[in-house]
Amino acid sequence: MSLSMRYDGVEKVFDPQGRNPVRALNGVSFTIEPGELFCLLGPSGCGKTTLLRCTAGLESITGGRIFYGDRDVTTIPPFRRNIGMVFQSFALYPHMNVFENVAYGLRVRKVPEDTIERKVSAIMDLVGLPDVLKRNPSPTALSGGQKQRVAVARALVYDPEILLLDEPLANLDAKLRRRMRAEIRRIQKVTKITTIFVTHDQEEAMAIGDRLAVLRDGNVEQLGTSSEVYSAPENAFVANFIGKMNFFHGRAVESATADEQVRIGIAGGLVLEPQERAIKTKHGLRAGEPVLVGVRPEHLMLRSEGSNGGFAGTVNVIQNLGQFIRYEVHVDPRLAPDALEIDMHQALDGCTEGDHVSVHIDQAQALVFSPETGWDISQDEVG
Ligand SMILES: Nc1ncnc2c1ncn2[C@@H]1O[C@H](COP(=O)(O)OP(=O)(O)OP(=O)(O)O)[C@@H](O)[C@H]1O
Ligand SMILES: [Mg+2]
Repeated sequence: MSLSMRYDGVEKVFDPQGRNPVRALNGVSFTIEPGELFCLLGPSGCGKTTLLRCTAGLESITGGRIFYGDRDVTTIPPFRRNIGMVFQSFALYPHMNVFENVAYGLRVRKVPEDTIERKVSAIMDLVGLPDVLKRNPSPTALSGGQKQRVAVARALVYDPEILLLDEPLANLDAKLRRRMRAEIRRIQKVTKITTIFVTHDQEEAMAIGDRLAVLRDGNVEQLGTSSEVYSAPENAFVANFIGKMNFFHGRAVESATADEQVRIGIAGGLVLEPQERAIKTKHGLRAGEPVLVGVRPEHLMLRSEGSNGGFAGTVNVIQNLGQFIRYEVHVDPRLAPDALEIDMHQALDGCTEGDHVSVHIDQAQALVFSPETGWDISQDEVG
């Protein structure tokens, strides 16, 4: 039976009595469903490893509670929690062969020898390394991907109730990483062990997780499926962290309550009419209040210079990425703080780098954030 997991107001302050206390987790509350593959995502230092270590009991928490299923494990020591963990800088024991590396957790638990042999063999089949087990070399003779699989096998072999993986693919090259993340998802679906997978790579989190949580400064900023978080980010930080988001400076044309439809003016006299649900503000908007308008690269279009309903830009770089063509376009900095990234399925006829173009926003897809929800970009005045 897979277990659920629940964090209830979890706080972690390192060195609370010291001169420089560090607040690493700031009242984290959420639930992971039984058998779920859950991703923790966030920038370096946001508290991902700390949350995993608290989950495993390797760090005590300074506030809140942690539950495995209905069991409050807050004060239970790590060796009495049945957890499998692959650490951020995992190390296999170089002086032991592969079999002994994987068997280690079973030996510690005083499992009989014939059971150990059966379990190690079964788990090495599961991670796709039966041949490596036959050769049984030292881990130093393994490739990066093989080492990674052995580390996962070592964490899984004693049937943990919960599996914690801290950036397990960080040391692999891009291609192997992709293969391994599919592999980890496959293994997790076979074992159905409730799993937390930590990464700071948003593509990896979206690809691997059933659901994900975005962390910032010890707070959960948003939690949901990949597509929920991608298409309906709750604030500008999440919008910018999950996939590329282009930002424009805008102003509310009229006053509105939160979640009410409101027209947004951007530089050059353009007025956008985003959908009602696209407005992400906590307190509504006053007429004239500055906002950030977020638009994904696939929701911007290029047309020839001077087209109606667009604004002027200059193409800086064109990259043909196979599935689409990516244009980097410079616009007036009063309009957008950074160069725009625009993905088009078809090339704009005759357009080359340095050309002047017209940029168009798919208004229905534009998201509106009040600047306080998010991310610190310079607030230039709208012209
Ligand atoms: N043992 C410790 N003592 C004091 N501060 C710590 C300790 N461990 C972590 N921290 C601090 O807590 C915060 C969160 O660290 P954590 O290792 O959880 O980040 P992370 O999200 O895993 O980052 P990364 O992506 O770089 O691995 C950081 O500010 C870090 O400096
Ligand atoms: Mg970490």
